[in-house]
Amino acid sequence: MKTKEIAAVQNLVLTWYEKEGRDLPWRHTDDLYRITLSEIMLQQTNVPKVIEKYHAFLKRFPTVDKLARARQSSVVKQWQGLGYNRRALNLHKLAKIITSDYCGIFPENPEELGALPGIGPYTKNAILAFGRNRHVSAVDVNIERFIRRLHGHGTWPEGSDTAQICYNFVPEKRSRDWHNAVMDVASIYCTKKKPDCETCPLRTICKSYPAPIEPIVIKKKERGATERGKHIPDRIYRGRVVQVLRERSASPDEIGLAIKSDWSESDREWLEKILEKLKVEGMIKYTGKSWQLK
Ligand code: ADE
Repeated sequence: MKTKEIAAVQNLVLTWYEKEGRDLPWRHTDDLYRITLSEIMLQQTNVPKVIEKYHAFLKRFPTVDKLARARQSSVVKQWQGLGYNRRALNLHKLAKIITSDYCGIFPENPEELGALPGIGPYTKNAILAFGRNRHVSAVDVNIERFIRRLHGHGTWPEGSDTAQICYNFVPEKRSRDWHNAVMDVASIYCTKKKPDCETCPLRTICKSYPAPIEPIVIKKKERGATERGKHIPDRIYRGRVVQVLRERSASPDEIGLAIKSDWSESDREWLEKILEKLKVEGMIKYTGKSWQLK
């Protein structure tokens, strides 16, 4: 899009945001611990769930120092309900590094921030944009979808650099507002499955209006463990293992019976692999008799 059109998009988005933006708890703080916590929770969990868990987590671990000093098993227990438990391990490691190497103060340069556990390129820029209003571009799937649709099917420049295009839209002085606003527009109007183009604040300028044409996605072939013929990804079973061990330590058989309704001897090798992987990641340990949270 041309500079003029980009300015018009910025205007529409920011004007809409001032009136209609969501009031989310992490928008009331510039504490990088809180911002980081919210971003890590939001990586794979929806906003209503994160709101609930964000408050509970901060009640238990109000500062990065408190988190660093906690036992790993209590951090994993506090993560209950969020899924993707590896995030809890990474967050705990991150807290330990911040207290030991950075005197408890989050680094603000992209290289150091991006080197912390669990902080990928998106999260790094999100922390800098939301926490410091830094002129960077945090591009998640929702923002990318919004920017692509804005350009319209067929007018997205061939072989283009998505990161650069998204960056061109970030207003220099209002990076925080822009990112908040686009997250809102993407989740209220420009949703993946049922976009609401008729009431979208961008409808006058969006090249997809009145309806986006979506690219055809070829589904990956399903494989791996099944339960009553239905494929369930290992990620789900990993989560179930951790859930069982949050309650108490358990033998492989007890775990198998608890996590898989059609558990049988033929699943043993598969389960051993899952347990071994969780062990290597530092999530669980084997005591000689039973498995438990580390
Ligand atoms: N998803 C990822 N980061 C977010 C944020 N800060 N607000 C709302 N949704 C998000």
